[in-house]
Amino acid sequence: MSNQLPASNDNPAMTSLDERVTELLGRMTLVEKIGQMSQVNAADDTIPDNLREDIKAGKIGSVLNQVNVDIVNELQRIAVQESRLGIPLLVGRDVIHGFNTVLPIPLGQAATWNPELVRKGARVAALEAASTGVNWTFAPMIDVSRDPRWGRIAESLGEDPYLTSMLGVAMVEGFQGADLSQPGMIAACVKHFAGYGASESGRDYNTTNIPENELRNVYLPPFKAAVDAGVATLMASFSDLDGVPATANRFLMRQVLREEWGFGGFVVSDWSSIEQLTVHGISANNRDAAFEAVNAGVNMEMASTTYADHLAELLDDGQIDIGLVNEMVAGILRLKFEMGLFENPYTDLSDFPATANDDHLATARQAAKQSIVMLENRNDTLPLKKESLGSLAIIGPMADDPYEQLGTWIFDGNPALSQTPLQAIREALGDSVKINHVRAMETTRSRSTDAFDEARQAAEDSDAVIVFLGEESILSGEAHSRANIDLPGNQAELVRILHETGKPVIAVILAGRPLTLANIVDNLHAMLFAWHPGTMGGPAIADILFGAESPSGKLPVTFPRMVGQIPIYYAHKNTGKPATADSFLHIDDIPVRMFQTSAGMVSSHMDAGNTPLYPFGYGLSYTQFSYADISVSKKEVSMGGRLTVQAVVTNTGKVAADEIVQLYIRDLVGNVTRPVRELKGFTRLHLQPGESRPVSFELDTSDLAFYGRQMQLITEPGEFHAWIGGSSATVLRAEFTVISE
Ligand code: GLC
Repeated sequence: MSNQLPASNDNPAMTSLDERVTELLGRMTLVEKIGQMSQVNAADDTIPDNLREDIKAGKIGSVLNQVNVDIVNELQRIAVQESRLGIPLLVGRDVIHGFNTVLPIPLGQAATWNPELVRKGARVAALEAASTGVNWTFAPMIDVSRDPRWGRIAESLGEDPYLTSMLGVAMVEGFQGADLSQPGMIAACVKHFAGYGASESGRDYNTTNIPENELRNVYLPPFKAAVDAGVATLMASFSDLDGVPATANRFLMRQVLREEWGFGGFVVSDWSSIEQLTVHGISANNRDAAFEAVNAGVNMEMASTTYADHLAELLDDGQIDIGLVNEMVAGILRLKFEMGLFENPYTDLSDFPATANDDHLATARQAAKQSIVMLENRNDTLPLKKESLGSLAIIGPMADDPYEQLGTWIFDGNPALSQTPLQAIREALGDSVKINHVRAMETTRSRSTDAFDEARQAAEDSDAVIVFLGEESILSGEAHSRANIDLPGNQAELVRILHETGKPVIAVILAGRPLTLANIVDNLHAMLFAWHPGTMGGPAIADILFGAESPSGKLPVTFPRMVGQIPIYYAHKNTGKPATADSFLHIDDIPVRMFQTSAGMVSSHMDAGNTPLYPFGYGLSYTQFSYADISVSKKEVSMGGRLTVQAVVTNTGKVAADEIVQLYIRDLVGNVTRPVRELKGFTRLHLQPGESRPVSFELDTSDLAFYGRQMQLITEPGEFHAWIGGSSATVLRAEFTVISE
């Protein structure tokens, strides 16, 4: 996929692709050019006459939300056979974490820290989507997300630019393959460009104010990685970025995306985000909105019609010139040629494997299994030993809900395919264990305690209790932000009641975001966080509960103790008065009338401290891993050189398991302050009990680069720390120095 800007017209090396674009462009009328820049919703079960007519007239370049292959083929037929130039359509759909086979939500997939598995999941999704005629997905969403109040954190890959970059690229590669013109490949669309994850207060669509070097050091790197990996398209964000909404932001779309990065693909607006520029107040009307967006470099308008309605008059009035329109259209045509749509516009279902086939379900199960993060396991309560169980209470609103376990953004997910935790546990235990199942709450938001006595009795009658809690899928995703991220409804009360029975209580949480869990942790023997695990969530959870596999998931996002700590993330700055482990004086322990400056003069909340409940990169295993003998291949590395950081990892426990080994670095002094830690590498090791293995990470000094005050990507000489461990809180540290010569 060559999404780089085309060879210039005077360059004899201009590719046939660009010649085809130039030749076609030269034959297009203005109506047809503006038509390519227009995407319309085509979700109806039939093709409305006006849509049929508009496609025939060359006024539509793309449709979205049609997944009936016969209707898609008819739409393509009209475009190819009835319009004057026969330009095929891009057919877009939000294929966010699967199609019919639903994978874990992207935040859950991020917890696998497994690019190969994430790539494989995107491939499964692409095959299922492409079989319906979809040839473009509005995914992956790669907004760095550090605020769990934000509902869209569910569709993100977490808080870290490096992990988001690695997994975002894996998804792009899974969707697009090596050659977009091959059957079963679909164009990807990384979104939302840019900075949407910084929506103030985690309230969706809210303002973002991001200093340029924070934008360049945190929010842009995943988009740069995707562009370098050949992503076909980007989607502009709804959000207001420093006073200029992304959809009208020339700094983002022109200076960064095209001039600095050389991006030659195209940008689509978000749903009516061009029309919303007037709502933002950056334009006075739709005509001005169209002017702002097209000048910013938004090639295609989704849903609203400001381009169709006003570009011609903007040209007539000389406010824009035809060269700009030609540039926008060329980006769209180039992709259509690249995808082979002119040669193969139609879809033959028989060319594709059946959706939700065994291979697809196996991938979904593996992804769900590796996404599960074990947060607590007191006295090795887990894994449960089937042979020592006589009866088991299965309690809670998320134990047996085929729809809710799928999560947000599952337009084409099929709940009938879901295998729920209750079903999987029954299958795993057979008749050997008596299952006492009580839903106890109609929904996760229920406030009724009517069924709590029944739940208590089920626990009393059982050897152990597994309570399935969390959020219904509608409680996360777009426009679904929460100011309070506790378990909704009376779930905490249910846990308390179950705890009072004295039976071992294991919680399995299915949710679309980190939750504040401090109010249930002490009432649990063990806790698994399974995100919204998708179609195969049940068998994956059962595999972990009964020890078929050890949990290996690691948190891609920080879990706060309380919502007031947000934003709280591991790659924070040190401040001038950092808290230390022994500097925390809890609000309840402050002496009455303590003198104002006598204690705690550090950056910390008196009622929460400055540490999270669970840190980024954290996750327990059924075994234990020790880390030792960290070293660097050289104490001093010259600018432009490379060094290796290595350590020895040992499985000191009794079962074989995977460990996600992580490398963090710190640049102690910079011309802007630098985070106290930054993830710079990770790898998955499988170790047998007692097995030790060296693990090493290669670092180039360019890996240490950042944007400083001059907004140049630079590595500075100086002292660095490096850590290797099983979470961002690891203490095993080495030091090295970058020297300038
Ligand atoms: C939505 C979302 C975007 C999605 C688009 C099409 O509003 O912001 O992520 O791809 O519309 O459904």
